[in-house]
Amino acid sequence: MNYSDIIKESLRMREMSYCPYSGHAVGAALLTKDGRIYTGCNIESATYSPTICAERTAIFKAVSEGSMEFSAIAISGGPKGKNPTKYSFPCGVCRQVMAEFCTDDFIIIVCNSEDEYEVHTLGELLPHSFGKEDMS
Ligand code: THU
Repeated sequence: MNYSDIIKESLRMREMSYCPYSGHAVGAALLTKDGRIYTGCNIESATYSPTICAERTAIFKAVSEGSMEFSAIAISGGPKGKNPTKYSFPCGVCRQVMAEFCTDDFIIIVCNSEDEYEVHTLGELLPHSFGKEDMS
C-alpha cells in the first residue's frame, strides 16, 4: 500500500498548525476505508487545556461528517517553520480516540518527510486497550 498521499498531506497540514504556546506544529492526515482523506492540525488555547491535537482534529472532522471507518493515519510534528527531524508519535489521549473507531490493525505512520517514515499499528502502540467490548 502506498501511503505517500497521506504523508504529504500530514506534512502540509503542519503549516496550518496554531501553536503559539508550544511552537510544536503537528499535522495529521487520516485515510478512510473508502479512500477519502481528512486532515488536521493541532490548535492551542491561551488556557492550555482546550488544546486539541492534530490527530483528534482529523478524526473528529471525519466522524462529524459521517465517516467512521479508517485504515491509516499519517502524523508529522516538530518546531513550527522547520522540517521535522524526530518522529512525533500520537499522545495517549489520541491513541484512545483511535481505539474508539479503529481496530488493532489500523496503520499509524510517523513521518519526517516523504522518504523518511515508520509504519506502526494501533495494536502495537496501544496494547490491551479498553473499549466498548470491555463494558458489561
Ligand atoms: N500534539 C499533537 O498535535 N499530537 C500529539 O499526539 C501530541 C501533541 C500537540 C498538542 C500541542 O499543541 C503540542 O503538540 C505540544 O504538546
